[in-house]
Amino acid sequence: MGNGATNIYEMIRRALSAQVDLGMGEMVVNHRPQQTVGEPQVLNDYRQAFASGAADLFGSSGSGPPAPKFESLDAHCEAIADCRDCPLWQERNSLVYGAGNPRADVMFVGEAPGADEDRLGEPFVGRAGKLLDRILAAIEMSRRDVYIANILKCRPPGNRDPQPAEMEKCFPHLKEQVALIRPRIICALGRISAQALLETTTPLGRLRGRWHEYQGVPLIATYHPAALLRFPAYKKDTWQDMQMLKARCDKPAG
Ligand code: URA
Repeated sequence: MGNGATNIYEMIRRALSAQVDLGMGEMVVNHRPQQTVGEPQVLNDYRQAFASGAADLFGSSGSGPPAPKFESLDAHCEAIADCRDCPLWQERNSLVYGAGNPRADVMFVGEAPGADEDRLGEPFVGRAGKLLDRILAAIEMSRRDVYIANILKCRPPGNRDPQPAEMEKCFPHLKEQVALIRPRIICALGRISAQALLETTTPLGRLRGRWHEYQGVPLIATYHPAALLRFPAYKKDTWQDMQMLKARCDKPAG
């Protein structure tokens, strides 16, 4: 197949992936006969991973995050700085651990570092990150108030979607971050994050706009800022989600 054709498939793949990101999970285009008609391959991959028991690694709801294994985020970050648990280490410039307030009430969880994040070693520092800053400002928060991390700590080549095996290896690191921070609220940014944290294949459009739980921590899912850059019409829904988050956050604990 020539480059032109490959690029067309890649463009279609990205366009569909954006649709799925926006919650239209049942939409299908399938040019490979062996794939199941009716679901994008990525959903099948997750389903298989969950069916084989890998989902246990993602942790399930309980009375609160378990006790952390490390004494601080710094100690944990240092311990995994040279992680080689999946092949993504080979191409990384930085392991993007996370950033923000270690005692944050609100923890935002994205998908994976992109090129800017890989270069600078910080999550959400590119265009999507600038939009996240504006979203935070709209709810009177800043990066200094919240903690920001990703499902994957290393950049997938070409910003492709994280693979189930990579997520399975990396998820315990996020789990430890949640255990160390013990946030009052988790906000999952985008489909990949929401589906991994909630162990589901439900489309994001049906997950957003209501409360869930991750290990006893209230969780709200909303659109990924990168998806909002491509589809600004979804900012309205994101605004509603952020209002829900803000209202819960402002409510006195207890
Ligand atoms: N997108 C993400 O999901 N995370 C980042 O850190 C940057 C872009």
